[in-house]
Amino acid sequence: MKSNDFNRIAPMYDAMAWLVFGGRLLRAERQMLPYLSASKKVLMVGGGTGKLLPFLPAHIELTYVEASSKMIGQAKKRSSKARIAFVQQDVLQHQGAYDTVVAPFFLDCFHQQSLVLVIQHLHTLILPGGQLLVTDFQPAQRLPEKWLLAMMHTFFRLTTNLQSKSLIDIDGWVQKHGFEPFEKIESRSPLLFTARYIKK
Ligand SMILES: C[S@@+](CC[C@H](N)C(=O)[O-])C[C@H]1O[C@@H](n2cnc3c(N)ncnc32)[C@H](O)[C@@H]1O
Repeated sequence: MKSNDFNRIAPMYDAMAWLVFGGRLLRAERQMLPYLSASKKVLMVGGGTGKLLPFLPAHIELTYVEASSKMIGQAKKRSSKARIAFVQQDVLQHQGAYDTVVAPFFLDCFHQQSLVLVIQHLHTLILPGGQLLVTDFQPAQRLPEKWLLAMMHTFFRLTTNLQSKSLIDIDGWVQKHGFEPFEKIESRSPLLFTARYIKK
């Protein structure tokens, strides 16, 4: 199986996420939305089944790049006020120029070497002064959360051949590769963060 292949778990992905986290993941993702108010051209990478699409503002033109055909199939069924172009593609193949790139629980799929390549590629897709919005997991401090993360990684390694073997400091790597932190919202869950970065 190729790495990060979410096709097999696409039909049950949202139900599983809900069972483990309730509404916390979507709540954290929605914290990115106010930052879209001044953006027109927006790229969403790894948006999965498209949970965020119904909440997008009407003024944006969204390009939705997602590698999994099954995930994108589900995303296409969502309603949204935004204009959306769906592209089934590996993000590293994507070319374009955007005011904003939105990455919801996407960067945690990659091991460190690929993560750097992906961040550098996203950097090339963002116009000068543009922004990268990230919601993702952050390394846990307490034992119960460390176990939960370890279990999640094992599960996704078995079902999707997830490239990442353990959670790495996404925020730190984004800042090391051409992005200035602008705002970081700590979620009520210590495992989640939402951050806005400006392209340097
Ligand atoms: C952990 S899921 C998150 C899905 C969704 N954003 C959510 O929060 O429910 C990661 C998503 O990224 C997609 N993905 C993984 N690697 C990718 C790549 N190289 N290019 C594009 N999409 C990719 C997967 O197919 C999957 O849908």
